[in-house]
Amino acid sequence: MKNDAEITNYDPIAEEFIRHAGRENSWNNLYERPNTVARLPELKEKNVLDLGCSTGFFTEYALGQGAKSVTSVDASRKLVERLAGRIKDKRLTTHCADIGSPMPFLKSNFYDVIICSLVLDYIKDWVPMFEEFYRVVEKGGRAVIATGHPFASYLYLERNNRLESYFAFRMIEDTWGIRGPRPFKTHYYIRPLHEVLRPMIQSKFKIISIDEPLPDERCKEISPETYEDLMERPGFLFIVLEK
Ligand SMILES: C[S@@+](CC[C@H](N)C(=O)[O-])C[C@H]1O[C@@H](n2cnc3c(N)ncnc32)[C@H](O)[C@@H]1O
Repeated sequence: MKNDAEITNYDPIAEEFIRHAGRENSWNNLYERPNTVARLPELKEKNVLDLGCSTGFFTEYALGQGAKSVTSVDASRKLVERLAGRIKDKRLTTHCADIGSPMPFLKSNFYDVIICSLVLDYIKDWVPMFEEFYRVVEKGGRAVIATGHPFASYLYLERNNRLESYFAFRMIEDTWGIRGPRPFKTHYYIRPLHEVLRPMIQSKFKIISIDEPLPDERCKEISPETYEDLMERPGFLFIVLEK
């Protein structure tokens, strides 16, 4: 039987996702990435860990900001190889690995910043995962996280007649890019709010912020539809933790 990371990694949908997330009006470009960037501390001369690096957006951002080193991890071999082939920079190290499992190749107490944007939804058990995040972060270092909003998942599943119960914690199969020429399947976990918060509260991290930001003027300009949508219901949760 396949383990979770073999099911959730983007190898089968790498090309589709690159195209999908790269669109100017994608939620990634209009909402996820600007809100994650807005929560990052200064990256110049810092050791940055990009977990679930995927297309490499945050890896490139961190390198561009003058990071001392960037370590980028993703369970998709295709995406990791693409990133390593595309960015030739001696400050960059890449690993193909499951972030829900121990990552012994990462040094303890080393990273100033972990960026983990829209990746936690692929991991079932966050308790050992936060222990591992805590191990590798330097004291005073931060983890900047974007993750699915349980209420947004509730509304989405209800609208699609797939709601079991708000409290159901389960992996779902979903189809994205439904309005585009090539819809593609993904697998991820949905969980109620207390299952988002409990592992963080239980961890040794201090919770700095938990936000559900509204869309900005750029979003309004580029995609009034997405803007209207995000003014009425939450998109993602943005969380900052500190060691
Ligand atoms: C939505 S994408 C992240 C988007 C990224 N933040 C960006 O802006 O381009 C999710 C990524 O998580 C990766 N992933 C899924 N399960 C994983 C796991 N267990 N461990 C590590 N990466 C995983 C997928 O391969 C995919 O590249």
